[in-house]
Amino acid sequence: MTALFDPLPPGGDCSSFPKSASAEGVVYRKASAFSGYVYIHTFGCQMNEYDSLRIRRLLEDRGYASTADMTEAHIIFLNTCSVRSKAEQKVHSFLGRLRRLKERRPEIKIVVGGCVAEHLGKAILARFDHVDLVLGTRGVGHLPRLLDELEASGSPLVCLPEEEAPVAASEPWTRQVCAPVTIMQGCDNFCTYCIVPYVRGRERSRPREEIVREIRWLARGGVREILLLGQNVNSYGRGLEERTTFSELLRRIAGECDVSRVRFTTSHPKDLDEELMRCFVEIPNLCKHLHLPLQAGGDAVLKRRGRGYTRREYLDRIRRLREICPEIGLSSDVMVGFPGETEEDHQATLEMLREVGFDGLFSFRYSDRPPAAASRYPDKTPEEAKARRLAELQRLQSEITLRKNEEQVGSASLLLVEGPSKASGGQLTGRTEQNRVVNFEGPRELRGRMALVEIARAYSHSLGGRFLHES
Ligand code: SAH
Ligand code: SF4
Ligand code: F3S
Repeated sequence: MTALFDPLPPGGDCSSFPKSASAEGVVYRKASAFSGYVYIHTFGCQMNEYDSLRIRRLLEDRGYASTADMTEAHIIFLNTCSVRSKAEQKVHSFLGRLRRLKERRPEIKIVVGGCVAEHLGKAILARFDHVDLVLGTRGVGHLPRLLDELEASGSPLVCLPEEEAPVAASEPWTRQVCAPVTIMQGCDNFCTYCIVPYVRGRERSRPREEIVREIRWLARGGVREILLLGQNVNSYGRGLEERTTFSELLRRIAGECDVSRVRFTTSHPKDLDEELMRCFVEIPNLCKHLHLPLQAGGDAVLKRRGRGYTRREYLDRIRRLREICPEIGLSSDVMVGFPGETEEDHQATLEMLREVGFDGLFSFRYSDRPPAAASRYPDKTPEEAKARRLAELQRLQSEITLRKNEEQVGSASLLLVEGPSKASGGQLTGRTEQNRVVNFEGPRELRGRMALVEIARAYSHSLGGRFLHES
C-alpha cells in the first residue's frame, strides 16, 4: 500500500508528493493567502473521521479556514458512509438540500467523498448535477491536484483511484487529546451482509515504520491517546514485506511513541489470539478495552452471515481473555434481522448478551447492501420484527450497562482528561481504560493529563466522578 502520510521536505508544496518521507519534524510552509472557508460533514465510522482530519489539514495548508456554518463555505465536503441503507439515504437528502445553496452561490464547490462516492461513482453526478467532485475512499491525497483541475476546467470530476497518494501537511492533523490513526484499509472477510469490502477494497496494511512515524508526529502536536483503526486489526501485517503482526506493532508503538494511551478497533473474533490477549497485561499504555463484534448469538445465523466462528468459540475466547486480563472492558456490535433470523435465533442473541455482559453495545437492524451476498437472500425479516428485536436488545443492554456502571460506584479510576464535557456543562470529561466516560468537576489545566477520580454516580451511558488528584 502506498504511504498515507508523508511530511513534506522544507520548501515543498502541496502539489508535489515526495515518494518517501524525509526526516521527522520537517515543516512545510503554509499558503499565506486566505482561499476561502471549508465545511466538512463526516458520516460513518472513525476511518472517515481520520480521513476528514487529513482533508481539513490539507485544505488549511492551501489557505482554507474551517467553518461550522455551511452557508458561508466555499468548499462543502461530505465524507459519506454506505454501511446501512439509512446512512446512504442521509447523504442523498443532504445533497438534495444543498441544491438550493448551490443555486444561490454557484461558486461553491461540492465534494462527495468516502464510501457512498466509492459505491455510486459517477451515478452521483447523474442524480445530483450540482456536485463538483466525486472522490473515492483512496482519494484523500489526490484532493489538491483535483481542486486545481476543478479550478481550471470548471467541469465536474470523478476520481476513484486504485492507489492512495501520500498526504503531506505542515502540522499534525489534529491537536485533540485523542486522535485516530488508520493502520490498514479494506477488508477481505466478505461477511455476507457487508458492503465494506466493496467500498474500501482489499485489506492493505500500512508499513510499521510509517505508522510509528505518524504517531510520533501527532504526539509532538499534543495528542496523548491514539486509536488504531482497521476493519480487522488482528490480521494487521498480512501482505507486508516485513513479517510483522498486530501485537508486534503494539509493542513498537508502546516502546517508541510518547503517548499516554493506545486503543484499537475493530477486532475480529476469529483472529483474536493469545499473543494479543497478553498484550493487555504486558503493555502498560495499552488500554484494557476490547471491541469484539459478536454480530449474532445463534450458530445458524453466524454461519449464514459468514462470520467464521461459533457461539462456543466466541465464549471460549472471552473466557480466556478474562483469565489473562480480568479487568478487561468489553464492547460489541450486534445486528438484528438478518434474512432468515428466527425468533429462536434472536433469543440466542439475547442469551449471549446476558452471558457475556458487555460494558457497551452498538446495535443495528439489517438492511440490504447490494452487492453484498445477503441482499439476494429471499427470506427477509419483516421490518416490524426487526424493530421489536432491536428494541428488546437495546432494553436488555441498557440494564446490563447500568448494572455494570453501578458496580463502579465507590471505586477509584484513572482517566485521561479530554477537555470540557459537551453533555454536562462546566464539567470535564475523560475515559477510563475500559472506555467508560466519566464527567467530573476539576481544573481546566487537566486537559491532556491523567487524573484519578472516585466514581460517585452511575448513569446509563456515563459515570459521574469526584476528582481526587492528578496522576
Ligand atoms: N469490521 C467490523 C464491522 C464494520 S461495519 C466487524 O467485523 O464487525 C460496522 C457495523 O455495521 C457492523 O458491526 C455491523 O453490525 C453493521 N452492519 C454492517 N453491514 C450492515 C447492514 N447491511 N445492515 C445493517 N448493519 C450493518
Ligand atoms: Fe464487514 Fe465483515 Fe469486514 Fe467487518 S469483517 S468490515 S463486517 S466484511
Ligand atoms: Fe461507513 Fe465506510 Fe466506515 S461504509 S462504516 S464509512 S468504512
